[in-house]
Amino acid sequence: MKQYRWVSLGCGDIAQQIAQAMEQKNTTLYGVANRTYEKAIAFAEKYHIPKVYKKIEDVFTDDDVDVVYIATPHNTHISYILEALKHGKHVLCEKSITLNSQELMQAVELAKEKNLVLAEAMTIYHMPLYKKLSQIIKTGKLGELRFIQMNFGCYKEYDRTNRFFNPNLAGGALLDIGVYALSFVRWFMTETPNQIVSQVKLAPTGVDEQVGILLMNEKQEMATVSLSLRAKQPKRGMVAFEKGYIEIYNYPRGKEAVITYTDSSEKEVIQEQDSVLALCYEVNDMEQMIAQGNPFGSENPMHLDYTIDVMNIMTKLRNDWGLKYPEEE
Ligand SMILES: NC(=O)c1ccc[n+]([C@@H]2O[C@H](COP(=O)([O-])OP(=O)(O)OC[C@H]3O[C@@H](n4cnc5c(N)ncnc54)[C@H](OP(=O)(O)O)[C@@H]3O)[C@@H](O)[C@H]2O)c1
Repeated sequence: MKQYRWVSLGCGDIAQQIAQAMEQKNTTLYGVANRTYEKAIAFAEKYHIPKVYKKIEDVFTDDDVDVVYIATPHNTHISYILEALKHGKHVLCEKSITLNSQELMQAVELAKEKNLVLAEAMTIYHMPLYKKLSQIIKTGKLGELRFIQMNFGCYKEYDRTNRFFNPNLAGGALLDIGVYALSFVRWFMTETPNQIVSQVKLAPTGVDEQVGILLMNEKQEMATVSLSLRAKQPKRGMVAFEKGYIEIYNYPRGKEAVITYTDSSEKEVIQEQDSVLALCYEVNDMEQMIAQGNPFGSENPMHLDYTIDVMNIMTKLRNDWGLKYPEEE
């Protein structure tokens, strides 16, 4: 496969992880650009990255760049996505890919027009464990899907300046952790949910700090999602079928699931490769998708279709709550 030239916009926590993923693949990012130039220099030295751009904008006009990886705050994503696509670059953007569906569909239309891959960096869609579970479900031995339970919670001190509670950085539980929970739900549901109700508790900054969501689709498959930025919860997913249920812990990068078969109470442990390689799987799927040369064909290992469904749900929920970010006023 061609050696694609990746550039990271941003060099914070998750950008470090993509740089490490490249090392695990025995390669390196081609370049890095960051709001604070000095940090980009240090990042490039640490990960042996050949090119450091003076300004983020210089990445888009560099003809040698194939893929732009966006690892900056949520509310900066859309402008970088559009610039990258306009200049013919494929885009892998950190979650949440955009603030709302309107922004996402603008990006999708441009990606279609330019025949480029546009994807959200959602580890769940790339972990071998999830692919294996899908195969097991497809055999039919668990019967029909009935119910999904999904929890995600962490305790964060109120701090207006960090992205968790800051509306100016598009903070809140939904865009920060809810996007994982809803992506998990979407992976297992056979159709997107179209009936959605919720309850929300807002933080003093006005963003959502705790959320309960109940979802159902046309096939009457149901899910509950509980999110909190103010209480630790196990990152636990449970998927219940007629003939058994699946439990997955640490689900965004899960490597082990336990299936309990209802009739016999027999348990089957499914173990897949190490979660340390989570971002490698994501990069591999992205490169495979680019190499396919058909970004909007029927085979999409990046699952832009699910990304669109999840963004539609999050947009509807925030509309229900009247929660708008400054960019949306
Ligand atoms: N951390 C994780 O585990 C994780 C996991 C998955 C996804 N994500 C997602 O990845 C993105 C970044 O998260 P992070 O945890 O890596 O954040 P982080 O460590 O705070 O790093 C943020 C990066 O964005 C840059 N930045 C901040 N404000 C900016 C602005 N207004 N314009 C342009 N660049 C700006 C920062 O540049 P400076 O150096 O100049 O401050 C820094 O390089 C978010 O969308 C997040 O949801 C994070």
